[in-house]
Amino acid sequence: MNPVKIGICGLGTVGKGTFDVLTRNGEEIAGRAGCNIVVSHIGARRGADISGVNVSTDIFAVADDPEIHILVELIGGTTVAKDLVLQAIANGKHIVTANKALIAEHGNEIFAAASEKGVSVAFEAAVAGGIPIIKAIREGLSANRIEWLAGIINGTGNFILTEMREKGRDFDDVLKEAQELGYAEADPTFDVEGIDAAHKLVILASIAFGIPLQFDKAYTEGITKISTEDVEYAEQLGYRIKHLGVARKNGKGVELRVHPTMIPEKRLIANVNGVMNAVLVKGDAVGPTLYYGAGAGAEPTASAVVADIVDVARTLSAEPKHRVPYLAFQNDAMNDTPILPIDEVETAYYLRMSAEDKPGVLSEVAQILSNAGISIEAIIQKEPAEGQDHVSLIILTSRAIEKNLDQATDSIEALDSIAGEVTRIRVESLAG
Ligand SMILES: NC(=O)c1ccc[n+]([C@@H]2O[C@H](COP(=O)([O-])OP(=O)(O)OC[C@H]3O[C@@H](n4cnc5c(N)ncnc54)[C@H](OP(=O)(O)O)[C@@H]3O)[C@@H](O)[C@H]2O)c1
Repeated sequence: MNPVKIGICGLGTVGKGTFDVLTRNGEEIAGRAGCNIVVSHIGARRGADISGVNVSTDIFAVADDPEIHILVELIGGTTVAKDLVLQAIANGKHIVTANKALIAEHGNEIFAAASEKGVSVAFEAAVAGGIPIIKAIREGLSANRIEWLAGIINGTGNFILTEMREKGRDFDDVLKEAQELGYAEADPTFDVEGIDAAHKLVILASIAFGIPLQFDKAYTEGITKISTEDVEYAEQLGYRIKHLGVARKNGKGVELRVHPTMIPEKRLIANVNGVMNAVLVKGDAVGPTLYYGAGAGAEPTASAVVADIVDVARTLSAEPKHRVPYLAFQNDAMNDTPILPIDEVETAYYLRMSAEDKPGVLSEVAQILSNAGISIEAIIQKEPAEGQDHVSLIILTSRAIEKNLDQATDSIEALDSIAGEVTRIRVESLAG
């Protein structure tokens, strides 16, 4: 199969991230797409020096390039971006975009043009950055009637509310920090007034309920009026204040609203903090499902952009084996990648043992672990119960290779001062 050639317009945060991910993971991506994906043209108005890639300062040259199958629009905004996308569609190109404002405000017109030309428009990155929420609703939940969805879909707003709650800081103070950290734009209106969240909600509702994009009908209320007092009272009542986008279908129609919302603190989504995003989707068959991850950033967003490129490339090279990556990997070395036996796996460990209640036992155990290159992160030593000469000794270790831990536990179990077997539970931080 010939390579699928793409043109990227806009080499800013997401454009660079997309180029980097495509370059770094080219082999895996080709395996999943069933063909090589080649960046053959970049539109960057200030130019760029990238060897082997045609770079144009006029981004419309990419839309007119007869070599390009897919145009990836990453310039943002609703004016030039709209003209660019419509021109590319008119030239028969498929479109991948991360631009929520463009899709929410002009999606109907763009989809109509694409449908007439028989090309696709993919926009996974436009909602909740790296979380594949559009695919989850459209494909994973395709059996369901979606009853409602609710999302924390603006990271800046969530960062501000989280800081207000955790540190008692006021809105203006946190907004200033968010701007310094690069989370919020110099003009933060889109984030704090809920416009950005409304763009995303309108797109989600369109996918979930099969309705046209109706941004002008969404109710949009920001977080600027939330005070630290409200945050504290909510806390005392067992609630958290989150800036939610809610879309709900009832017998009369579809609710489409973005506003600060109190949620019981025990709900998982109430505990989504900082710049992270999460979307809860309730399907009639599956029940509630929750999707969580990074809602912005160069590579999380690129992750969604590249997934869309792969999807479009698959339709261009529609062969069943391309749904099964190992059949399509061109590199046999990857097919032969071994599955590691458990004794080569590395994790941290919780160890519990029954130790004689006498001086020196802990140092014997510590010495054995240290000889195996395993350090101790935490220890709990229980007082012996009345009339007992053994105590529970609990140790949390650093990460270690399982076979080293096996040898160490064999030696620990061989100690006269240790009774019975050492109980072990593998520990995964699952962070990052
Ligand atoms: N950043 C994120 O985390 C994130 C997450 C999800 C979705 N998105 C969406 O992704 C898109 C790109 O965002 P970004 O953060 O990558 O923006 P960015 O860093 O500002 O990059 C935009 C790039 O497009 C270029 N550009 C802008 N207007 C142009 C025009 N009229 N003609 C030619 N080039 C133009 C800019 O060139 P100059 O450098 O010359 O200005 C810049 O290189 C937006 O639609 C955004 O909403 C971003």
